[in-house]
Amino acid sequence: MEAIVLLGAPGAGKGTVAGLIEEQTSFSHVSTGDILRAAVKEGHPLGCKARKDMEAGQLVSDDVIVGLVNELLDAGPPDACYMFDGFPRTLEQARKLDEALARKATQLRSVFLLEVPRELVVARLGGRRICRDCGAVYHVSNIPPQVEGVCDDCGGELYQRPDDAEATVLNRLAVFKEQTAVLIKYYESRGVLVRVDGACSRDETAAEIMASLGRTFQAQ
Ligand code: AP5
Repeated sequence: MEAIVLLGAPGAGKGTVAGLIEEQTSFSHVSTGDILRAAVKEGHPLGCKARKDMEAGQLVSDDVIVGLVNELLDAGPPDACYMFDGFPRTLEQARKLDEALARKATQLRSVFLLEVPRELVVARLGGRRICRDCGAVYHVSNIPPQVEGVCDDCGGELYQRPDDAEATVLNRLAVFKEQTAVLIKYYESRGVLVRVDGACSRDETAAEIMASLGRTFQAQ
């Protein structure tokens, strides 16, 4: 079995592209950010622990994140293929992922680095809106819903993530540079890093990743 990782700054488009790829492959999308937000919404003890860090744009502790990813992998079928989004984010998490995949005899096939200029990610995060009910992701000008503030898929209300406030975005970008960018070298040295253009349309980025996986992308 195999796994891939989507790596990139906040707002690089990891979640958006992961959704498109999941629809056309057997990779199961694992977003640690989504898992944490669901835990906050449900009032789960994990969410209570993580909430403060998330709202400040800081990383949640490695122990918490590694614990929840291990739990998810252990509960999944033995032949599952995974697409990680937002994980790993530190060297410690990357090493723990290596161990977990080895236990599952799963190969880390590629780590896709979505490259996007800083000013573009800031603009993307400032305009991002998310459906409270189904989690669909929009952008007020790039990927707008048909009716302002309303989800096209389920009619749910669209909201802005608290950590998309400008000051928190700048903090998240600094955290990425300090703690996550080191993973670029880590994966480059292992020959699994694939750089993709994250500044073009979401379909073009998804198609580039699919081509690298030897697959054809059906545009949406
Ligand atoms: P997480 O949810 O993982 O946030 P992130 O990595 O900061 O990434 P984002 O979700 O903000 O961006 P994205 O790259 O998915 O962009 P998107 O596709 O939405 O983590 C949140 C927090 O949880 C962290 O700060 C931390 O506290 C904690 N956490 C999570 N994982 C952790 C871990 N492993 N360790 C420790 N802590 C962890 O796109 C952004 C916007 O741009 C959208 O509006 C979208 O519509 C638009 N857009 C996307 N692609 C395009 C395109 N090609 N063209 C035009 N617009 C586009």
